[in-house]
Amino acid sequence: MKILVIGQGGREHALVWKLAQSPLVEKIYCAPGNPGIAQIAASIPMPDRFTELAEWAGSEDIALTVVGPEVPLAEGIVDVFSERGLKAFGPDKRAAHLEASKDFAKQLMVKNGIPTAEHQTFTDAEEAMAYIEDRNTPVFVKANGLAAGKGVIPGRTFKEALQAVTTILVDKAFGDAGDSVVIEEELIGEEASFTVLTDGTYCLPFVSSQDHKMSHDGDTGKNTGGMGAYSPAPVITPELHDDVMQRIVYPTVNGMTDIGRPFKGVLYVGLMITDAGPKVVEFNCRFGDPEAQVLFPRLKSDLVPLLTACIDGTLEQHAADVQWYNEAAACVIMASGGYPDPYQTGEVITGLEDADAIEGVNVFHAGTKQAGKNIVTDGGRVLGVTAMADGLHDAIQQAYQGVFVIQFADAHFRKDIGYRALERD
Ligand code: AMP
Ligand code: GLY
Repeated sequence: MKILVIGQGGREHALVWKLAQSPLVEKIYCAPGNPGIAQIAASIPMPDRFTELAEWAGSEDIALTVVGPEVPLAEGIVDVFSERGLKAFGPDKRAAHLEASKDFAKQLMVKNGIPTAEHQTFTDAEEAMAYIEDRNTPVFVKANGLAAGKGVIPGRTFKEALQAVTTILVDKAFGDAGDSVVIEEELIGEEASFTVLTDGTYCLPFVSSQDHKMSHDGDTGKNTGGMGAYSPAPVITPELHDDVMQRIVYPTVNGMTDIGRPFKGVLYVGLMITDAGPKVVEFNCRFGDPEAQVLFPRLKSDLVPLLTACIDGTLEQHAADVQWYNEAAACVIMASGGYPDPYQTGEVITGLEDADAIEGVNVFHAGTKQAGKNIVTDGGRVLGVTAMADGLHDAIQQAYQGVFVIQFADAHFRKDIGYRALERD
């Protein structure tokens, strides 16, 4: 079969890498892809309109389209493909609202008794500020809409919290995504990412993972899309796993069906493991990035039948056969210096092949571009250097071995990926 993958990041490179291993797959196309993806898939341009892409997919006999990022999902790409009888993996527009509106997600959680931080939503800056004065800090101030993982501002002091409201509601730093803000209490604990595939009825959990959202070591600096990840995340014990499935995952998926928005695709639950149990920090409607870079290498089974089963509503029939490798995986993101603030692009990258040649290491491309015979930086997160080994300690060490042979001007990476998990050993 022919497959089309939508996206151009590290997550999509990992996805294409995994899909390419399936004996069912004859050819993979990626729109728009990146130079890493181009080594295993045919890149095609991403047209302005989804209808154009769907027509192309129909004419090329694409049997499955897999949508990587949240923005096209929220804009209804799956609806456009489905209307033409084409199979596309991911939630439709109404279901993707679970990620596209934090206020919608909060309402769903409150209605279904799903544990999460206490919150209120505001469109008026003065009312938001009055609420903060009333309830005290620390709080988290969040743009309601999609902001590439950057629309969340911690307000540890009044000054910070009030400034965050101004940034989002008045200065419109995140554009329309900041037409309203969700203000919530701070949750204390350790974070983990919980990924499930669902056909709207059955939920198939992936192995656990954890990412590092802050830009600098010790979880300091600014919030980013993610600076590294590892799997398994030892904070998710078997008991916690069952608790999350029963009190969070199923109530969410069933709650979406109850309101006429059945959810099919990936449900990514960002969790805080608090003293009072797991609570939801956020929902995403797609694979995590960089979590995907550590999850797909650990998946032993063919991914294609699982994705197709989500669309067809037959996921439960496949669940018993899913197999995982016992090895651990770690991914270190190499970013452009300055990210998530403005940064330079166009820096020549060297050492990619040497890093890839290290046993167990895969270098997934994100913000890269082909410039003549060079590969150059072209984004904030540039590469995800991923390794698999017998145990997290070795996986992390090997990923850093890969990082150390890759060079580009002003490269930035965290040196402490996985530190929480290693502290548990
Ligand atoms: P989000 O995009 O909502 O996941 O937020 C980004 C990051 O901000 C999360 O991964 C957490 O590290 C942090 N965060 C968001 N909300 C809270 C909260 N209520 N309490 C503590 N940390 C939070
Ligand atoms: N790594 C966090 C995310 O994908 O949203």
